[in-house]
Parts: sequence; structure tokens; C-alpha cells
Amino acid sequence: MVVTATWFSGLTPTPSDGTPPEAANLMHTAQAARTEPGCYDRCCNIATELTFVTLCVPILATMYEPDLLVVNDLRTYFDVDAGVVKAVDGVSLSLPRGRTLGIVGESGSGKTVLSRSIMRLNTSANATTTGSVRYQGEELLDKSPAEMRDIWGEEIAMVFQNPMTSLNPVVRIGRQLTEHVEHHLGVSGREAKEQAIRLLRSVRIPEPDRRFNNYPHELSGGMRQRVCIAIALACSPKLLFADEPTTALDVTVQHQILNLLAHQQRDRNMTMVLVTHDLGVVAGRTDDIAVMYAGRIVEKAPTQVLFQSLRHPYTEALLRAIPKVDQPKHTRLSAIVGRPPDLINPPTGCKFSPRCPYVQPRCLEEEPPLMPAPTGNHSFACWYPVGSSEAKHAWEENLAYGVTQTLAAAGEIEATEETDDLETTAAVLALETADD
Ligand SMILES: Nc1ncnc2c1ncn2[C@@H]1O[C@H](COP(=O)(O)OP(=O)(O)OP(=O)(O)O)[C@@H](O)[C@H]1O
Ligand code: SF4
Ligand SMILES: [Mg+2]
Repeated sequence: MVVTATWFSGLTPTPSDGTPPEAANLMHTAQAARTEPGCYDRCCNIATELTFVTLCVPILATMYEPDLLVVNDLRTYFDVDAGVVKAVDGVSLSLPRGRTLGIVGESGSGKTVLSRSIMRLNTSANATTTGSVRYQGEELLDKSPAEMRDIWGEEIAMVFQNPMTSLNPVVRIGRQLTEHVEHHLGVSGREAKEQAIRLLRSVRIPEPDRRFNNYPHELSGGMRQRVCIAIALACSPKLLFADEPTTALDVTVQHQILNLLAHQQRDRNMTMVLVTHDLGVVAGRTDDIAVMYAGRIVEKAPTQVLFQSLRHPYTEALLRAIPKVDQPKHTRLSAIVGRPPDLINPPTGCKFSPRCPYVQPRCLEEEPPLMPAPTGNHSFACWYPVGSSEAKHAWEENLAYGVTQTLAAAGEIEATEETDDLETTAAVLALETADD
């Protein structure tokens, strides 16, 4: 568009003024056309082609690749003395523009390593990442560090787990914001300060002009996290990763921060990945949920579908682990049996098998792949999915042989649970959504 407008207005920019070389060539040819009869048509054709390339190709690319992010068979392995830690082990997912994906799993399931691998932020010398991460159709794993620096902040940003470690404790928060604005937006001085104060106000920091001069330790935990969100949003990224943004905050502040993120996401039409260990946090705040276990996605579905008809026993266990307000006093929390697996020597077959109340001999031998459910854009990796007659049979068999009872006796699962419990939890979570 710029090129054609300039062409018709008769201006002749040079490469030194920032004009791309193709455009400068076109201008040159256009000038020649005025003096060389016969070149005019050729120039018009070139101009039309260039306009098509600059305007239509990105639009067509968007039409053909509606997903902002497509991750395929992503693996991140760490070489350590004891062997190889398979922290992310074959994750595939896609993220349509404007949607929010929740990544849920226990501590150590690989959520942070996955997010960092997508953003190319895994700096450990012992890490190897393979697979594919396509962002707006471009392969991020092939980009140089310099190319990635242009993408960080401006295209993809991240709010980290702990604001105290992501903010510099000896630099005033105003300076940390203006540095970011100056670096990415090329503005400085008063303009950068005004921009920083606007950002602080947009994340609802009270008295932003005064807070601008505070050090991180002079702010509460919630305010520090707001500053981190302001820094992440400074360059209006299209994709935001929020990695456990409310860990270590009290429940009221957690709620405020999550609402703030949701509002910012809506106002800016951002695509967001919300990482958490709490299924309750993502209910109602996300469009889709991916449940991670031992470096893999074990269940993936639109949020509503997942809560209505979860299929993986691990998702079921996560849902049962959410405390319910209507439970009688001193009710024992339904913790998930056992511990997450050793990622260097994981169990053979299904990695959840040592903790699963439905486990059967097949589970110990064959690892289930992520399989599509018959409806609802839903997939899960389980041979005996929750709600199926096979699962019911497996549960009863385990109960009869004492497997499930042993787990129940240890207080780790409830042998007589009714599915009504799950439905109540899902309904409460859905209500919370409506409140927000
Ligand atoms: N640099 C590293 N070297 C070796 N192992 C690592 C390294 N970084 C992460 N890991 C391992 O990768 C696994 C996944 O870690 P990750 O931080 O992604 O878990 P997480 O799901 O984010 O957990 P949390 O909820 O506690 O944040 C863990 O077992 C962790 O110990
Ligand atoms: S495959 Fe077997 S062990 Fe694994 S989650 Fe399903 S039922 Fe449980
Ligand atoms: Mg983490």
C-alpha cells in the first residue's frame, strides 16, 4: 500500500530512508517509466505484484493457517549424570488466534519446560529440543537468537511463576518498564515514562506515578505480579504465556490477577496460555484445556467438554483433588495416590499406571497414544477411559482383588466414590465461571 501510494504521488524514497530494497527498486523503475516510454505497463505490473505480496500473502497465510501456534512432536530432554530427563516428550497442540489454552498438571509434569521450549527460553546447556514450533507459519526452532529477541516481547511474552525472581530487586520498577519500552518500541525519555505509567494504570496499580519510583520489595506480591504483567504487555504481544501467575498469592489476590489477565486478554484480543497445577483455576478462564502428565498431554478438550465428560483417570484425580466448600468439616482431601514418575526411568506402558485405580495388565505393557473421542474435539490417552463400561469393569475387578481398596485404605482414593461428586465439582466450577 505504501509503495503504490508513493508511486502515484510521485515521491522517490531511497533505501537510506528505511524503504525496503524491493520498494526502492520499484521506485527506481517507476522513475524510469516517466522518461522511458514503454516501461509504464511493466512498472504497473510490478507495483501490482508487490502490493499483492505485501498485502494479500499475509492475509492468505492467515486464512490457510488459522492457528497462531502449532506445536508438533515437541521434545525437550535434559542430559544429567543419572541419565536423560524426558521433561517434554512428544507434545503436539495447536492454538487458534484469540483463544485461551489452559495447561494443567502436577508439579514436575513439564508445564514450564514446555512453555519455555515453545518460546526458546530453555537456556540450559544440557537441554536438547526437537520437533516443530510454528508461530504464524514460521518455524521458531530454526530462528537465530537475534531473531528470537525480536519475537520476545513484541510477538510472544511470558509472565513468570515468581515475580520476585523475574524483577530486578535493585532497579526501580519504573526503570524496568521504561527499559523494556525503550528497547522494543524505540521511544525514550518522557514518552517512555508516560507509556510506563499508562501501563501501570492499565494493570490497576494504585497511584502509578508514585509507584513508578518504587523498588520491587516496596510492593506487595500482588502488585509485583501486576508489574510483571505490565512488562509482558508493554509491546502488545499477540501470544502471552502466564506460567502459574498466581502461585504464592493469597486467594483474593489470585482472583484479581486472573481477572486482570482475562480482561487484558479480551481487550487486546490476545491469545493466551495459562499454566497451572489447579484445574479449578482454568475452569471458566480458558477455552481449551490440555492435561499434562510426565511430559505428555494425556487429555485435551474444549473446557466445557472436559468438565462434562472427562475420560482420563488422571484428569479425574485432579478434579477430585479440588477442595469443595460444601464438604463437611474435617473431610479428608482426595489426594492423588503416589508420586509423579521418575522422568529418567519412567514406568513401562502407561506412565500413570502405578497410581491408577483402573489399571489393567495391558496398561503395564502398552503406552496408550492420544486418541480422539468420538465427539467434541476431545482426545485422551487411556485404554480404559473414565465412564466406559471397560473402566467400570476394571474398577470393580481392582476392588475385588483389593488393588483399589488398598489405595483407598491408604487414604489416597475413595473406593466408593460416586460420579455425582465429580458432577458437583464440575457444576461448582462452571458457576464460578458465570460469576466472573
Ligand atoms: N535444567 C534442567 N535439568 C534437568 N532437569 C530439569 C531441568 N529443568 C527442568 N527439569 C526437570 O523437568 C521436569 C519438568 O519440570 P517443569 O519445571 O517443567 O515442571 P512443572 O510442571 O512446571 O512443575 P511446577 O508445577 O513445579 O512448576 C522436572 O522433573 C524437572 O526436574
Ligand atoms: S491406560 Fe490404564 S493405567 Fe493408564 S490411565 Fe488408562 S486405565 Fe489407567
Ligand atoms: Mg512450572
